[in-house]
Amino acid sequence: MDIMKLISPNFSDLFEPNIEIKEFPDGDSYVFIENINECKNTEVELFHRLYPEQNNSIVHLILILDALKRAGAKTTLISPYLPYSRQDKIFKEGEALSAEVLCNLLVCAGVQRLVTLDCHFLKKEGELEYGGLKIKNISANKMLVEHAKSMTDDGELEIISPDQGANYLVSGFGGKSMTKVRGDYEEGDTAHRKIETIDGNFNVKGKNVLILDDMISTGGTMIRAVGNIRNGGAKSIICAATHGFFINESLDRLSEISDGVFTTNSIPNAAAEVDIIELLKD
Ligand code: R5P
Repeated sequence: MDIMKLISPNFSDLFEPNIEIKEFPDGDSYVFIENINECKNTEVELFHRLYPEQNNSIVHLILILDALKRAGAKTTLISPYLPYSRQDKIFKEGEALSAEVLCNLLVCAGVQRLVTLDCHFLKKEGELEYGGLKIKNISANKMLVEHAKSMTDDGELEIISPDQGANYLVSGFGGKSMTKVRGDYEEGDTAHRKIETIDGNFNVKGKNVLILDDMISTGGTMIRAVGNIRNGGAKSIICAATHGFFINESLDRLSEISDGVFTTNSIPNAAAEVDIIELLKD
């Protein structure tokens, strides 16, 4: 069976788009797949990013999936970053389990399988299932480590993750993980749980250290981790993650306090130095 490739406009940095997304005058979303005939009763690989503007991007996706469902397509969604993946636990009663909600929604909308990178709640590579959704989770860790090695003078690196959740990214390289404890939500309109402690006493004196995480969002985790490694007397510190949001100008801050910061281009950003295209093609 031939596989039809559909590319959303928010993937135009990597592929030529062939889906139209517009807005009606009142702001409602509009999608149009010109070559829908080629998708009829066939397998479709849909490349659509779900970040930035995650809520809009999710609505666009649901509409695209509806058009594909009507055509009888069997859709694999390729979205390198899955939003809401960090809300995979109820911290206090009354919250939503957003990660599960989104996965349920994708299944209902017609996604047969999701291909994504370093999905926060999976914590390992491979073919997995969550919220009824079949997910292929690919790690960018090898590419990130290779890139970091090329930034050192001798290719030697001590690799450390800033929390236990990201241990799977570093364990294959003999890496270790710090322990991070988050507290309650901060006051104000933004739902953000402050970091109480990041601990990990590793022997990093005189060594090149790569701190590797699945994502850098506000940068709070990485900034605390750099402080910890700096206190241990490291020779150099590189910060890397699969997904880079760099909220609150955290890229500037991290660039000041470390010897290098980079991510993949799963989310386009100014520090996206590792290209995911080969991972997605595979
Ligand atoms: C959380 O456990 C993740 O692995 C990241 O460490 C976290 O989401 C990074 O967020 P931030 O940059 O806001 O500290």
